[in-house]
Amino acid sequence: MKKSLLALHGNGVLGLDSMESRFNIIRLYNHKDPESFGYDEENINKIIEDNKQEIVAINCTIGQQVSRKLIEALPNLEIIATFSVGFDHIDLEAAQERNIKVTNTPDVLSAETADTGMALLLATARRVVEGDVYVRVGKWLNGDLGLGTSLTGKKVGIVGLGGIGSKVAKRCDAFEMDVSYYGPNKKSQYSYKYYNDVQAMAKDVDYLMLCCPGGAATANLIDANVLDALGASGILINIARGSVVDEPALIEALQNGTIKAAGLDVFANEPHVPSEFMSMDNVVLLPHVGSATVETRTAMGQLLIDNILAHFDGKTLLTEVV
Ligand code: DGY
Repeated sequence: MKKSLLALHGNGVLGLDSMESRFNIIRLYNHKDPESFGYDEENINKIIEDNKQEIVAINCTIGQQVSRKLIEALPNLEIIATFSVGFDHIDLEAAQERNIKVTNTPDVLSAETADTGMALLLATARRVVEGDVYVRVGKWLNGDLGLGTSLTGKKVGIVGLGGIGSKVAKRCDAFEMDVSYYGPNKKSQYSYKYYNDVQAMAKDVDYLMLCCPGGAATANLIDANVLDALGASGILINIARGSVVDEPALIEALQNGTIKAAGLDVFANEPHVPSEFMSMDNVVLLPHVGSATVETRTAMGQLLIDNILAHFDGKTLLTEVV
């Protein structure tokens, strides 16, 4: 009898059909809570109860809580594979206690997500979205939009110089920007200026780009003090996690002119975006599309499948979260 894969997510463009010969796929993503990225708790309880002995694998993505409760409900679970680089939605401790493997999709999405960061930086600094609306509503007929600010020669501080952050740095180099970074450790392979204090870095730079993981270690890292340090001509770009920023403090900073602008791909309670952002001209909003291209989502889907198959074929996992 085939074992079951509990699919909280459809695995993007690639889908899960190629796994049908190996697994009974329980497509829980068809029971999605329309108000969130998450599955519908009530609907799935029965499905899980009826299949709990057979379920050996879960696939999921950002925002879909793989909680201790869910992990403990599945006595034969062996692997959790997430279609994302971030894994802050998975209770790692609960998984590790039972030696359940956890895999993610790093590297294949780094360049794409870095591009999203640059798109937001250009969009905010050069007022791209504002300019588009300006033309469409006919305001140009009455005068010019006004000036943006340069990227060339400006200082950018990258929070988290990991897979994505280092690709952002490379792109900023190409834009002739002065790159520095903050993170828990100095990275000897890079010559960029290192800060072990994010507020000190924010004070020194023009633009702050968040690329770090989410989770408890970075929760509200960017608070009112950091925003104050970034200052009135500063721009904040967040391609990391909404949890990294104190969102009410950011709203206040944008309303009061404490910082100039923000480009946001991620929010504290996705897909709900605070209404205050909607009416701000100095904010560019994206619906968490950091890695959202056909090419990258296909590569992520393949990596997720390869990890699950490697596990059940007794091979080394390609990208295990440790
Ligand atoms: C991920 O995959 O964790 C990121 O959020 C990409 O944007």
